[in-house]
Amino acid sequence: MSRKKITVIGAGNVGATTAQRLVEKELGNVVLVDILQDMPQGKALDILESGPVYSYDSEIIGTNGYEETKDSDIAIITSGVARKPGMSRDDLLKINTGIVKGVAENIAKSSPNAILIVVSNPLDAMTYVAHKVSRFPKHRIMGMAGVLDAARFSTFLAMELKVSVENIQAFVLGGHGDTMVPSTRYTTVAGVPVEELLPKERLNAIVKRTRDGGAEIVSLLKTGSAFYAPSAAVVEMVEAILKDKKKIVPCAALCEGEYNIDGLFVGVPVKLGAKGIEQIFEIALNDEESAALKRSADAVKVLCEQVDTLL
Ligand code: APR
Repeated sequence: MSRKKITVIGAGNVGATTAQRLVEKELGNVVLVDILQDMPQGKALDILESGPVYSYDSEIIGTNGYEETKDSDIAIITSGVARKPGMSRDDLLKINTGIVKGVAENIAKSSPNAILIVVSNPLDAMTYVAHKVSRFPKHRIMGMAGVLDAARFSTFLAMELKVSVENIQAFVLGGHGDTMVPSTRYTTVAGVPVEELLPKERLNAIVKRTRDGGAEIVSLLKTGSAFYAPSAAVVEMVEAILKDKKKIVPCAALCEGEYNIDGLFVGVPVKLGAKGIEQIFEIALNDEESAALKRSADAVKVLCEQVDTLL
């Protein structure tokens, strides 16, 4: 069986770490693209040279163009400017719209059948940009946010309960921003609803920390934003697709009526398999959850309306 081809655009913190994780897991051959001269070539060679030590045969090359990315099975967009302390994801909107637009045009030309995963922030709006520009069908375009948000939620719950992270099934909906909707009602610990295990105030504090999870890392790093957990989350999505796992994970998916959202990419539970997003699951929400999701979708809508004026 020949290896799958995965293109990662943006060889910065998120892109390079994603590329490293992909070849370490031998999920495919990787093409790492960046506008900076020589940098993606250097990082790719460095990662390639780890192969003999780490025992992987996946290949990786770096490039400044799209020739080598031709006919990729998966393309991951991480190019963009990262948040600086005090900068919200939304401040990034203008700059990253321009970057993601250019990249999506190139990918649509060089890999018209690829499955596209967007990571650049503000996530839900950048996925919308990539969709508008590439015109890829909705099952082949998605944003990575929910897996990361759920991983943060799980981390904090496991810390609080002093149990394995593997026991936590965290459930997160909505946009990847201050309005995200971590659901305590649908989150379980070894099958037990978390609401039965922790008092409301503790849960509320953990939900808040999850919502602010990106900002917490930004304020600690000072010179950039999170990349270890984001790259791990991307790789989980790639693995689900390439292994046709039919795995249910939260992703930014184009909703067309689901959850009363229309024409926007918002985090919802989806089934990921070989075709990409194979199904969106509509879960029953109570009034409070519906209102929170609506607020979140409204916030995404505002950004997409701004994007419409930029494209
Ligand atoms: N084409 C290719 N690469 C580009 C382009 C472009 N048009 N524009 C910028 N880049 C590259 C930069 O040269 C840089 O190497 O994107 C890379 C971004 O890397 P970092 O600055 O390290 O940012 P990173 O932490 O990887 O975050 C990337 O993901 O999580 C989001 O908010 C984050 O939007 C940000 C993105």
